[in-house]
Amino acid sequence: MHTCPVFDWEAAWHAALYGPDGFFARGEKPSSHFRTSPLVGPELAEALLELLSRVDAALGFPPVVDFVDVGAGGGELAFAVRSLATGSLASRLRVTAVELGPPVSLPGVRWTTSVPSCVGLLVGHEWLDSIPCPVVTGPSSDPWITRWWPSLADGAQAEVGAPRDAAWAAAVSSVRGAALAIDYGHLVSSRRFTLTGYRAGRQVPPVFDGSCDITAHVAFDACAAAAGGDWVLVSQRDALAALGVAGDVSGSGWDWLESAARAGRVAELRDPSGLGSFGWLLHGNGVEVSELLPVLPPWRPNPASFSGV
Ligand SMILES: C[S@@+](CC[C@H](N)C(=O)[O-])C[C@H]1O[C@@H](n2cnc3c(N)ncnc32)[C@H](O)[C@@H]1O
Repeated sequence: MHTCPVFDWEAAWHAALYGPDGFFARGEKPSSHFRTSPLVGPELAEALLELLSRVDAALGFPPVVDFVDVGAGGGELAFAVRSLATGSLASRLRVTAVELGPPVSLPGVRWTTSVPSCVGLLVGHEWLDSIPCPVVTGPSSDPWITRWWPSLADGAQAEVGAPRDAAWAAAVSSVRGAALAIDYGHLVSSRRFTLTGYRAGRQVPPVFDGSCDITAHVAFDACAAAAGGDWVLVSQRDALAALGVAGDVSGSGWDWLESAARAGRVAELRDPSGLGSFGWLLHGNGVEVSELLPVLPPWRPNPASFSGV
């Protein structure tokens, strides 16, 4: 009797991104292929510095305070945080970029390939969506699917988020302070199969040959439950406003022009059908999240919104 070999989606996805000639392993940087919030301008870094300063205060101003950027890509966010920090925080700040692809030489940023133990703020910006998953077809008896994707129809496909849950739980447990995942995603009430590819700014079929980024939406509720503890899930639109990133246009002449340009960038970051619809999953570890953000509306996936990169 002949049996059909089972295609190992997770292994193929992993090889395509992180294998010897994988898309990210060989040095492709997100900036060449898609636009993420750190590439819009300095405003995301400003908001994260404000969040870091609240974590710092809640921790009682430790001698060394970490900003750890997991899945750092070209290091744009890490470098912006390093460059914008001022005062006592700047003198105690240690910035680490965690990245499987080749490091980029940036002043004040140290590079590593694994998440370090740290005290401060760990951020995974569009990290979890790039972690390979198994793919199953319904009906499936996979325990993750049973728990987190009970609506899976016969013949329909689903990404099994268990590897992301494990990665996020490990990242949250490595930090004393707070951990923040910023990404596109879905909830148990709104699951859909989202596996796709990106290359040179275009959405392309997810071919596992290393020619494109391969990504799928993050099951935020499953990641939150896996990491546990004190957490909130809010929208980027609301979180940026709560951290003081506003886009008011004021002044005259060059000042007006500068404030208008900034307002345009803030509007892009807060666009409810674009980057503003990203989820911010924030966990406190040794710090209450209520010390970091005010009460905000819970994040809900917007079916009409940006499908992610
Ligand atoms: C979609 S890109 C996002 C890059 C950047 N954070 C941004 O938003 O522009 C995902 C990055 O995560 C990296 N990555 C994925 N898994 C990783 C891991 N376990 N450790 C370190 N880097 C990882 C990839 O190599 C890739 O550079």
